[in-house]
Amino acid sequence: MGSPNQTTDISELVEALNLLRDEAERDLPQASSEQDLEQLRVAFLGKKGKLSGVLRMMGKLPKDARPEAGKVANGVRDRINGLLTENAQRLEDAKMAAALQERIDVTLPGRAPLSGGQHILNQTRDLILDVLKGLGFEMARGPEVEHDFYNFEALNIPEEHPARDMQDTFYIADRVVLRTHTSPVQIRSMMSAKTPPLRVACFGRVYRHDHDVTHSPMFHQIEGLFVDKNVSMADLKGTLEIFTQKIFDDEAKVRLRPSFFPFTEPSVEVDISCFACKGAGCRLCSHTGWIEIMGAGMVDPEVFKMSGYDPEECTGFAFGIGVERVAMLRHGISDIRLFFENDLRFLKQF
Ligand code: PHE
Repeated sequence: MGSPNQTTDISELVEALNLLRDEAERDLPQASSEQDLEQLRVAFLGKKGKLSGVLRMMGKLPKDARPEAGKVANGVRDRINGLLTENAQRLEDAKMAAALQERIDVTLPGRAPLSGGQHILNQTRDLILDVLKGLGFEMARGPEVEHDFYNFEALNIPEEHPARDMQDTFYIADRVVLRTHTSPVQIRSMMSAKTPPLRVACFGRVYRHDHDVTHSPMFHQIEGLFVDKNVSMADLKGTLEIFTQKIFDDEAKVRLRPSFFPFTEPSVEVDISCFACKGAGCRLCSHTGWIEIMGAGMVDPEVFKMSGYDPEECTGFAFGIGVERVAMLRHGISDIRLFFENDLRFLKQF
């Protein structure tokens, strides 16, 4: 290039412009992002860019050569602008192509969102408690770690009494147990509500050292207690009839068989007519036509005394039912352990 004082030769300028165009043609297609491209735009066409640098030489051209030089310069500028647009489009296209590749195939079957569900035992609990609420029972809860007094003694099961063997107890400490049934809540309810009538239902976990296909060391019971003046065995039977009809079969018949519980007198095992064969005899009812579903009885006067109630004044009934047993019967489940294994293939069926 010539010195400041020399006039520049037009061919020299044209050559510089052509070199600039070649450079742009080489560099712009290499740009790999919009930012890259913007940097190149500034480098070529910016105020202090390469084209401006070359054009500064124009001033030194003889006047009559300037229009032609200007034409070439405009051509190069247009070319570079063209390259910028072209490459901006190239980058845009690449971006779109990448985005399209990530897109899901709309012809594939949809992926349904996983939704949770209520555990079958909780569904069964709600069903039973709803029926009891409808019968006027209030809900009560009690502790799972229970004092011997509430779990046994106040229920007329003194220490050394053979009835303690009916339930294999987990001891936490001396005279502290994992409750073996929900009956201690009867005692707690009576002790805290001094005056009958009392109508409470209790739900909760209970524990016994026992396990096979129908017994789990932890299971759930629901207990009902009704205390008032002149409550009779007929009231118990009537209540259980409505209760079982709502839960198993609207035609269910109830049969009471004599039994023994230390806290009820008389005590009964409650059978319902088989809802599968309507009493004709089938596998579910072992061909007897009846299914045993719970224990019940009239509250023993000793229990009233220990809870601060006057057995001359009031009578009452109580019944206790296993939630797992109800769910197994209602859904034809043959192994209690299925409830606690959390295998979704099992749980999803309900
Ligand atoms: N608590 C008894 C049990 O678990 C069931 C029961 C409750 C029996 C209330 C009679 C009355 O075996």
